[in-house]
Amino acid sequence: MQIHTGKPAVPTATPNRQPFAWPKLLTENGRGIAFGGDYNPDQWPEEIWDDDIRLMEKAGVNTVALAIFSWDRIQPTEDRWNFGWLDRIIEKLGKAGIATDLASATATAPLWLYEKHPEVLPRDKYGHQVNAGSRQSWSPTSPVFKEYALTLCRKLAERYGSNPYVTAWHMGNEYGWNNREDYSDNALEAFRAWCRRKYGTIDALNQAWGTTFWGQEMNSFDEVLIPRFMGADSMVNPGQKLDFERFGNDMLLDFYKAERDAIAEICPDKPFTTNFMVSTDQCCMDYADWANEVNFVSNDHYFHEGGEMHLDELACSDALMDSFALGKPWYVMEHSTSAVQWKPLNMRKRKGETVRDSLAHVAMGADAINFFQWRASAFGAESFHSAMVPHAGEDTKLFRQVCELGETLRTLADAGVQGSELERSDTAILFSAESEWATRSQTLPSMKLNHWHDVRDWYRAFLNAGSRADIVPLKYDWSDYKTVVLPTVLMLSAVDTRRLADFAAAGGRVVVGYATGLIDENFHTWLGGYPGAGNGLLRDMLGIRGEEFNILGSGVEGEPEAIRLGAGGEVALEDAAALNGATTRLWQNDVTVTGDRTQVLAMYAGEEADEWELDGMAAVTRNPYGAGEAYFVGCDLDVADLTKLIRTYLAAPAQSQQSQANTDVLHTVRKSADAAFDFYLPRGKKEVELQGVEGEPVVLFQTERGEENGSYTVRRNGVLVVRR
Ligand code: GLA
Ligand code: GLA
Repeated sequence: MQIHTGKPAVPTATPNRQPFAWPKLLTENGRGIAFGGDYNPDQWPEEIWDDDIRLMEKAGVNTVALAIFSWDRIQPTEDRWNFGWLDRIIEKLGKAGIATDLASATATAPLWLYEKHPEVLPRDKYGHQVNAGSRQSWSPTSPVFKEYALTLCRKLAERYGSNPYVTAWHMGNEYGWNNREDYSDNALEAFRAWCRRKYGTIDALNQAWGTTFWGQEMNSFDEVLIPRFMGADSMVNPGQKLDFERFGNDMLLDFYKAERDAIAEICPDKPFTTNFMVSTDQCCMDYADWANEVNFVSNDHYFHEGGEMHLDELACSDALMDSFALGKPWYVMEHSTSAVQWKPLNMRKRKGETVRDSLAHVAMGADAINFFQWRASAFGAESFHSAMVPHAGEDTKLFRQVCELGETLRTLADAGVQGSELERSDTAILFSAESEWATRSQTLPSMKLNHWHDVRDWYRAFLNAGSRADIVPLKYDWSDYKTVVLPTVLMLSAVDTRRLADFAAAGGRVVVGYATGLIDENFHTWLGGYPGAGNGLLRDMLGIRGEEFNILGSGVEGEPEAIRLGAGGEVALEDAAALNGATTRLWQNDVTVTGDRTQVLAMYAGEEADEWELDGMAAVTRNPYGAGEAYFVGCDLDVADLTKLIRTYLAAPAQSQQSQANTDVLHTVRKSADAAFDFYLPRGKKEVELQGVEGEPVVLFQTERGEENGSYTVRRNGVLVVRR
């Protein structure tokens, strides 16, 4: 059973990227799948450490992330350094064969530092100082804070740079978690400098921000403002807000780089990472840039929705990680063994899910499976967060699953999975952090736009249609794919539009979603009809021209909540009914067809469409362009309707012929020079029967072998891995 066809198309990023380097384990050859978690021994009396190590050995833990929140322990007062405890625990771990991924420990600063230098605290947009007492309560642009942080980094590098048990540097922790937006005077000053660097002249900045609107023209960079509170009813200049988002991202990235370079000067030979935050409701930084600055990419993945979507969402986040990693293995720095404690309701994981989720990450290209955290805290804000060792201790279902996971990961490593690379698709869904920021502007036709969720919906629809897509940052090179999909990529620059046009002209297929290509990189609306990206180039590619947006979902009595789609006029007969009855609930582009050869694949139809004067108007179109083609999906569609659209028009013929492709299962392939590993995971709650699976089984987790060769029953939350 082979789902994927087409040549692998690994995206490429900037030439200045840090080289890929993977942390070595303390095994004989340094290899193995890394397994462990955040370890906070400073929360416990030292008497417990030996028991921790005993349990780690029992579970097969081979690495931990250490000292993430330990700055106060390491530097209890400004002139006192205390490394003894850290020396002892690193040594104990190392002797037991457990490598340390050592944090730069700057995620949370000691209270004495805030007491002495309150100016390092960020400010919120109302000008209130953010108080100390949590974590990341520091301003990324504070020169005073940076000095203290870099001193700490150097001290750590001097002390542990040549320690053989320290095998990687874990910089900060989730940069931006609590200080993504800082409105302090430091930030204002740094923002002015950032604008000067970016624009050179104040005229260029006035032009970019469109400051003739509401009389905001600036005479010099000294008049540049950050978007602090301007009154309850005021609306922020979206161009200024967007630059402030970029600036926030850049300042944190600069901070990371400064920490990294401070350590690298003393200890250049150990790989650096920092944990990203990519999961369903989180993709807050422009990690396409960050990925260029680490030696290996790592992520913290937390699930937000359970149910049928759970595994799909995990795979979707991981697909983006795999592109950040340019197809190289990447690291799960944190996920949870079971429930978290930061949602209104915190669902636990069910039988097998702890192992299954971890193996799903491996299936998607991860070579390291770590959790937050090793031992559940007895106090503090996270004591009810699940851990590898729960409050009830060793004699628990959960700890037994953790041990089973450790063993399974060892089996996979022994079989040669480590270092193998995820087989890529020939379809890329394009993701743009800047469009994600832009869709959160409160000045758009609808505040319900969500680029990242639309990416996920398309991703799920491709899985439903029996073909897995990749998710690739718009700013990377995706020109080797056959199809690119742009879901709610609100912002398209002239350059990016030209790339799309060249791609289509050379034979590629471009699929443009609703609310795509409406603004340029300065948040200026492209004119002349929607979607006007590239001064009309996108419109030309699509062969349509939009005049207005039709927005639904007001909940107002007497207004339709949904509009149906019917068959278009000029489609081949077998396709005609494909989107009949599909439903749009949020956004419809009011368009006319302008191309001579543009085919209407579906139109709005019925009473509700008539009510909004859309009856008979093109909803989904296809236009030949050069040697390729461009589709326009002019309205939002749910996953089921997107699935129909993909099945009918986008799935490659080889794939659509494979009617037996089992869409109830997530199937991925990881390949190395001498083997291919097939991973099969049921996407939903039902068990899945597989037939004709080639290869030797490596892992049969909640899976039974059938009588016939190559047949298996993979039960709920089960995983089958075979080696070919
Ligand atoms: C008010 C203002 C206008 C404009 C409109 C928009 O009426 O006076 O300047 O902002 O709202 O609806
Ligand atoms: C984040 C942090 C961890 C912990 C977990 C809890 O990922 O990095 O320190 O707070 O969340 O889910």
